[in-house]
Amino acid sequence: MPQLAARIGRAKPSAIMAVAEKAKRLKAEGRDIISFSIGVPNFLPGPHVYEAARQAVDKDSGQYGSNRGPDALLDALLEHIEQIGLTGYTRANCATGIGAKHVIYNLAEALLDEGDTIAFPAPYWTSYVDIAEIVNAKIQLLPCPASQNYKLTPQQLDEALAKKPKVFLFNNPSNPTGMVYTKDEIVALADVLVKYPDTWVIADDIYNRMLFDGLEYYNFVLARPELRDRVIFLDSLSKTYGMPGWRLGFMVGPEVVAKALVTLNSNHITNVPEVVNAAGIAALTGPQDVPNQKRVEFQAKRDQVMDVMNAIPGLVCPRPQGAFYVFPDISCAFGKTHGPSGTKIENDVDFCNALLEAKGVACVPGSAFGEPRALRISYTCPTPQLAPGLQRFQEFFAELV
Ligand SMILES: Cc1ncc(COP(=O)(O)O)c(C=O)c1O
Repeated sequence: MPQLAARIGRAKPSAIMAVAEKAKRLKAEGRDIISFSIGVPNFLPGPHVYEAARQAVDKDSGQYGSNRGPDALLDALLEHIEQIGLTGYTRANCATGIGAKHVIYNLAEALLDEGDTIAFPAPYWTSYVDIAEIVNAKIQLLPCPASQNYKLTPQQLDEALAKKPKVFLFNNPSNPTGMVYTKDEIVALADVLVKYPDTWVIADDIYNRMLFDGLEYYNFVLARPELRDRVIFLDSLSKTYGMPGWRLGFMVGPEVVAKALVTLNSNHITNVPEVVNAAGIAALTGPQDVPNQKRVEFQAKRDQVMDVMNAIPGLVCPRPQGAFYVFPDISCAFGKTHGPSGTKIENDVDFCNALLEAKGVACVPGSAFGEPRALRISYTCPTPQLAPGLQRFQEFFAELV
């Protein structure tokens, strides 16, 4: 029998989906399951988005579209990023894709030859590793444990870049930790980046509108404009606008990179479907009340989760200020046994399995994100489920002996 390509052996199915599947199976068996597992925003976009999509269906000629994205969408993207201070870019600096994940995949193809190194902090979003492995890049992890608030220090960055990785990938606000870098922290990291002109910088900032406590978003290009030639800014409609399944992501950065992605699009997807583009334009340019309202709601949910995390003895949980995740270090539970079930907890996977079996609460083990001492809680579940889910989480801890 002929063999599959070697790269398929390196591609792994998502660890997050594995937990979600198990939770789904238990639910189908009649168990009362509360899911804190998948990173979906769990709200719908405003009615104007659906209306724009309907109109596009009526108008859509069904022809192929632009490999880069239609001008009206590119203009909407440019206006969108101007609101966070990223000015002076043109349509030639933009490229779209089927979600930010696809844009990251395209960037990996465009920037990394086999054997090149990509550096990024851990905890990381799982797909970074999977994508890097598919393109056969070397991965240089920069460990950022809870003791340093899951944040990269300038010194760590300096040491990492001295090894000359081809790409540095940075995610702010972070999935899975919810941490947000302050302006001063971004400036300090940007000061290091300018010293290493041979490294591309991908700023995966897709949660840039989901900031709490009055924090303002900041970016390497704002900090050091000379980085504009090397920083690729990523955004997506998935989280901000409650549109994960519509699949629209984009990059803004150096023209040469955008052009490379347009070329890849021309050979992969040809174009993001016009109906999706129309919905995207409406989301970006229409009323912003849904995302604004959700940000307020998520901040309140963050507070609710943190009240419980802070009440659990031994748990270490840096306070997130963005996105919709909390990432407690649960290593104080390792070596203990869950009394009622007799399950021994040796690691994060044991913990998440035992929690799901005993209490019907699904969380993702931190090892999926490169931090096996932790787990991820995604708190976008319907509001009435949050308090009971957290109560069960707390009870589970109380039952450890
Ligand atoms: C940090 C980060 N980057 C990129 C993505 C991909 O988003 P999209 O739905 O636009 O593909 C996600 C989705 O969970 C994410 O958390």
